[in-house]
Amino acid sequence: MTRKIIIDTDPGQDDAVALLLALASPEELDILGIVAVAGNVGLAQNARNALKIVELSGRTEVPVHAGCERPMRRKLVTAEHVHGPTGLDGPDLPEPQKKLEDKHGVDYIIDTLRTEPPGTVTLCTLGPLTNVAMALVKAPDIAPRIREIVMMAGAYFEVGNITPAAEFNVYVDPEAADVVLTSGVPITMIPLDVTHGVLSLSHRLEGFARIGNRCGKAVSEMLNFSERFDMEKYGNEGAPLHDPCVIAWLLKPDLFDGRKINVTIETTSELTRGMTVADYWRITDRPKNVLYLRSADDDAFYALLTERLARLP
Ligand code: RIB
Ligand code: CA
Repeated sequence: MTRKIIIDTDPGQDDAVALLLALASPEELDILGIVAVAGNVGLAQNARNALKIVELSGRTEVPVHAGCERPMRRKLVTAEHVHGPTGLDGPDLPEPQKKLEDKHGVDYIIDTLRTEPPGTVTLCTLGPLTNVAMALVKAPDIAPRIREIVMMAGAYFEVGNITPAAEFNVYVDPEAADVVLTSGVPITMIPLDVTHGVLSLSHRLEGFARIGNRCGKAVSEMLNFSERFDMEKYGNEGAPLHDPCVIAWLLKPDLFDGRKINVTIETTSELTRGMTVADYWRITDRPKNVLYLRSADDDAFYALLTERLARLP
């Protein structure tokens, strides 16, 4: 039984790898659509990058929508220092022939959730939560219709990556993260605590290049570009690979472990804005609103990724 998903994303090289993993897995995942959000770079560029990745995969039937251009309340913060000015630096991918859909991404999320049978659509978020939060604010009736939200977001034991306290996706739009985490929708959160345990070590990147297809080559070039910043920052032999963990959770949840806890978002302090305050030891009686994943089997994760990328052109 395939699982219907909408992927909300700000491609970024790691988002691109997550998209390719999903596009390579049609037996398990029915990608209803992809929605771009402002984050790693500006919205227009992220949307263009999503079109490029869909074309690279050969799955040009998958629709791509553009969503919100900026966070709900704050000025947009981007990450060209990690992803390069295009957001997808590394490979030289052709300009996309495929066009964006006319419908705004927030309306696409709302309309799809209202049309599909309740409880059958999973939202996979790989960037700031602006689009999903705006959909919940504009159409509160969709909340009980969402099967699950699986998000790459947050950090607790690994602390922040854009500030000492906050992970980038939550930092960019903390109000959106707060709207989503208090929505009552079932949430699986994949934080830096997980992604910092799945490092793109050189033999793993070489494994992608050795696949011998255009997607393996592009992934190797993307990650060789984007990892340089994190390797410098963390001093590891490889960079964390964030967003593909969301798709890997859907494909092989047994690779991960975690627990149901409360996670609350800091939205007022400027010092700790965007911090995901995770009650991991269940000290408070705050509602357990999140399945918070803490670790993953990194060898199995990369074996899955390599095997699936080999299915693409
Ligand atoms: O903090 C990592 C997250 O921020 C990833 O989703 C990456 O693509 C960036 O958006
Ligand atoms: Ca992302």
